[in-house]
Amino acid sequence: MTPHNQAKKDEIANTVLMPGDPLRAKYIATHYLTDIHCFNHVRNMLGYTGLYQGRPISIMGSGMGMPSIGIYSYELYTQYDVDTIIRIGSCGALIPSLDLFDVVLADSAWSRSTYAQEQSHDMDTIQYPSSAINQALQRAAKEQNQMLHPCRFHSSDIFYYEDGIDSGAIENQCAVVEMESFALFHNAKVTGKKAACICTVSDSLVTQQETTAQQRETAFDTMAQIALGGSLY
Ligand code: ADE
Repeated sequence: MTPHNQAKKDEIANTVLMPGDPLRAKYIATHYLTDIHCFNHVRNMLGYTGLYQGRPISIMGSGMGMPSIGIYSYELYTQYDVDTIIRIGSCGALIPSLDLFDVVLADSAWSRSTYAQEQSHDMDTIQYPSSAINQALQRAAKEQNQMLHPCRFHSSDIFYYEDGIDSGAIENQCAVVEMESFALFHNAKVTGKKAACICTVSDSLVTQQETTAQQRETAFDTMAQIALGGSLY
């Protein structure tokens, strides 16, 4: 048990999918897994373990932003022997060639955040996912006839900017903006574990288009299926 997670050690599988919204964790568990068991409801940050195609897997909400995913993922890696975390989230497009509902795979995450620096004196402004997990996700997407665009993510602490796109994100060739993957990849690095992140484009900072809540739910299914498929390799 930790201050944020009431699960016993053996209640969580080696691989955890992490949507930001805990209700999405419940949705995936109830729609795609069998034999499900809820292992956490501290702060309503719901977590479930079940079987996907006969193999154990866990799904847990991460909350929004790097401090939140930083806490939950660090505890999963260090207190629960979790080996792999795959974040499944939403992001905003920073380039015109990405459309709403496109699914993107982080090949790296750039950030201005001091998360890595404060956590372990790591001065790298770019953090990386596991290439093995990325390959597994690409294989799964191909099998499911889904496009998965690899690109660099901007992990930001800010959702509401006063003056539009952060120029640093463009200078650093980021194609999308979200708020978690930099901290997740850093935690995987310092604990010697694996992480990856796929996101659905939910809005465009270029065209100002946005998806509706209903549309986001359908798009979320595509991404969940890719992540579940990738977890089998
Ligand atoms: N997640 C989805 N859209 C986003 C945006 N525009 N900025 C940050 N995180 C996001």
